Amino acid sequence: MNAPETFPGFALGAWSAQQLATVEQALSRWVAPSDAPAGLGDAMRYAVLDGGKRLRPLLVMAACDAVGGNTQAALRAACAVELIHAYSLVHDDMPCMDNDVLRRGKPTVHVQFGEAQALLAGDALQALAFDLLTPDDGSVDAATQARLCRMLAKAAGYQGMAGGQAIDLASVGKPLDSKQLHEMHRLKTGALLQASVLMGAACGQVSPAAQEALGQYGAAVGLSFQVVDDILDVVADSATLGKTAGKDAAQDKPTFVSLMGLDASRAYAQQLLAQALASLDATGLGNTHALRALADMLVNRAH
Ligand code: IPE
Ligand code: IPE
Ligand code: MG
Ligand code: MG
Ligand code: MG
Repeated sequence: MNAPETFPGFALGAWSAQQLATVEQALSRWVAPSDAPAGLGDAMRYAVLDGGKRLRPLLVMAACDAVGGNTQAALRAACAVELIHAYSLVHDDMPCMDNDVLRRGKPTVHVQFGEAQALLAGDALQALAFDLLTPDDGSVDAATQARLCRMLAKAAGYQGMAGGQAIDLASVGKPLDSKQLHEMHRLKTGALLQASVLMGAACGQVSPAAQEALGQYGAAVGLSFQVVDDILDVVADSATLGKTAGKDAAQDKPTFVSLMGLDASRAYAQQLLAQALASLDATGLGNTHALRALADMLVNRAH
């Protein structure tokens, strides 16, 4: 990932390294279903561990920082969002969807473990996400647990990721207009990224105005993220991406690049970054350094 040059007062690299160490350790501890039958645990761990930029967990932790929230709750939320994301990738790669053989630099889960096991690993990871959000050890109060579950459920389901994926599959070979493409990206990718920000904020106290502005930040970051994913599919190579490049054109998927071309897509991503940063200013929150630097990194990333 690129180290941002534009935020001299904040060392994103050091902050991220610390957060990532905590998140990796927690994922490895929680995604350890040694009692999962018939090899399912191996497929689950393979899908989640050893790979992935962990951008959603970083957004959760950064938003929690911004509101001075409960870091125990945020760590659970960060891992839960990553489990939903990992599950969405397992299913996205299956032959009935994008039919991809490479993910995070490794053979995809269905290639490694078979289609049925990949389907089940995705199912089980989704359920485990909600298990993580509902601990009975007193570390997260009941109202916060319910709120986090609701936010994640909405972002993952028909009003979010799954709905966006349905539009994606229904749009193969069909050019979408700008409004339709925005809607698809908002749902399939934006919803979970926005939820990462809002779930982090939900681990603390936040005014309705700040919540609204954080939601706008999350929406801009979420949309820009998929615009950049579409760009990287065209300009980056498979080794850099850890997934097969050039798949969108090969499968005739409508993307921002197919709609407006590369240069306009790049300019649009930068415009969305500016919007995200302006929304952050509007939160009135003091400690938004990590959120600022992450938005910059998400848009200017090379993979
Ligand atoms: C890729 O997401 C899939 C999309 C939602 C566009 P990431 O680029 O965050 O993938 P990992 O988690 O780093 O593998
Ligand atoms: C995937 O979008 C979005 C998900 C919900 C998983 P893509 O199909 O563009 O993601 P990649 O390019 O395979 O990672
Ligand atoms: Mg897809
Ligand atoms: Mg795909
Ligand atoms: Mg893509």
